[in-house]
Amino acid sequence: MSRPSVISADHSKICKCPKGLNPLRLPTHVAVIMDGNGRWAKSRGLPRIMGHRAGVEALKTILRLCSDWGVKALTVYAFSTENWSRPGDEVSFLMTLFERVLQSELESLQQEKVRIKFLGDLVDLPESLQTSISEATKITSGNTGIHFNVCTNYGGRRELVLAAQKLAERAVKGDLDPSLIDENIFAGELFTASESDPDLLIRTSGEKRISNFLLWQLAYAELYVTDVLWPDFNENELTNALIDYQTRCRRFGGLETDTSNQLQN
Ligand code: IPE
Ligand code: IPE
Ligand code: MG
Repeated sequence: MSRPSVISADHSKICKCPKGLNPLRLPTHVAVIMDGNGRWAKSRGLPRIMGHRAGVEALKTILRLCSDWGVKALTVYAFSTENWSRPGDEVSFLMTLFERVLQSELESLQQEKVRIKFLGDLVDLPESLQTSISEATKITSGNTGIHFNVCTNYGGRRELVLAAQKLAERAVKGDLDPSLIDENIFAGELFTASESDPDLLIRTSGEKRISNFLLWQLAYAELYVTDVLWPDFNENELTNALIDYQTRCRRFGGLETDTSNQLQN
């Protein structure tokens, strides 16, 4: 498991952080379960798809803020392996929405130096979406800004099974000695290979579960659940989540580092 750095902010951007937030103690990697689009729409008497549209606007805002404030990676849950069980018209709407937004936002992602990746079992997605995904991934691959990971047809269990399959294939070929498989080698076969583990997981809309998201990577993430529905999650809400994160004491199974105590005991 990779440990986060203590000082993680990009110093060229720290001046943009809002008041009350310590720019030197930002999470390096923020993960978000963007939940509550349907409830947001329902509360306004709108069809669920309008909630998904509004959710895209919230995502654009949060990506820009994370990038401006110096967060290095933002990983969001856009569509789970279980979301296929929803009504067909909602699923088709989401697939079309992902493709349209990707195409319309590509230029601004480039301008902002965002490196976008899609994490998940992408072969099940519509072919035209797969094409847009590979183009966007390729075009932005050399960008030096925030790493923006969009989990699409993503399931934590599926990811772990696929990693186990890849390791088994390497072992059968004689390329890997099974007794040498350790946490680093295993993590190297996950969709998130080369990304540090999330420091903070935000879940909107009040559900206190992780719904098959980043089962391996969230081992030591700090959890933040808010009742705010995803389309309403804005700068103020992100600031609250980050301020709350900065009050946490991360021990990773060890003890709080307090040198005065250590000297006395
Ligand atoms: C999250 O919002 C978006 C996706 C899962 C695609 P929901 O669609 O789950 O919204 P609620 O939970 O029904 O309100
Ligand atoms: C999790 O939300 C998946 C995404 C946000 C894409 P769900 O709405 O699918 O999760 P459950 O069903 O409430 O656990
Ligand atoms: Mg939901």
